[in-house]
Amino acid sequence: MLNTSLLLAWLTVTAWSATTGRRARLSEGRFIKWLAIGAVLLFFVGVSGSIAALSNMIFPSGTIAEGIAKDFSPTSHLLLRLRPLHPIIAVASGVFFIFWAGWLKNKFELSAMAVRWANLLSILILAQLSFGALTLLMLGPILMQLGHLLLADALWIVFVLLALELLSVSPSAGQDDARQTSPAAVSSSSER
Ligand code: HEM
Repeated sequence: MLNTSLLLAWLTVTAWSATTGRRARLSEGRFIKWLAIGAVLLFFVGVSGSIAALSNMIFPSGTIAEGIAKDFSPTSHLLLRLRPLHPIIAVASGVFFIFWAGWLKNKFELSAMAVRWANLLSILILAQLSFGALTLLMLGPILMQLGHLLLADALWIVFVLLALELLSVSPSAGQDDARQTSPAAVSSSSER
C-alpha cells in the first residue's frame, strides 16, 4: 500500500512538473499542516482497507450477518476484529476531507485549478464512500474490489495534485530561487 502510494505520488509529481513547468515548495507553510494531516488520514484509510481486503480473502463470509458476527466475536482472529475499523476510519476521514475542501475554498483565494482539484476530491470521497458500502454489502466481488481500489488510487492522485497546486511557486519565482541557491540548477535552467 505504502509502495503503491509513493510510486503514484512521484509519478503524479513528475507529470505535473513536466506539464506545468512549476515547482512545489514544502516551505509554503500555511497549507503544509493540513496536507500532512490529510496524507496521514489517507494512509490509515488505505492500511485499514488492506487489512479488510486481507481478512476477506482469508476468512470469507457467506452473508453480511455472518461477517458482522465474526467481526465482533471475541474468539475471532485479530484480522477479523480489525476489519470494522476500515469503514469507521474512512467515514471519519471522508467527513474531514469534505469540510477541509470547503474551508480551503472559502478561506483562501485559490487558483482555478486548486478549486477544481478540491471539488474533485470531495466528489471522489463521496463516490468512494458509496462504492465502499456497496462493496461491503455485495461481499466484495472482484469487480467491486478493483473499482474500490481504482477509486482509492484516483483519490490519492487528486489529493497529490491539490497539494502541488497549494504548494506551487511560479516558474519565475522558482528560477530566481534556483539562481540564489544552486549553481547546478542555474546551469540546467540556462541550458533550457
Ligand atoms: C475514503 C474512503 C475509502 C477509501 C480511500 C478506501 C480505500 C480502500 C482500500 C485502499 C482498500 C484495499 C483494497 C485492496 O487492497 O484490494 C479497501 C478495501 C475495502 N474497503 Fe474501503 N475505502 C474507503 C471507504 C470504504 C467504506 C466507507 C467501506 C464500507 C462501508 C469500505 C469497505 C471496504 C471493503 C469491504 C474492503 C475490502 C474489499 C476487498 O475484499 O478487497 N471502504 N478500501
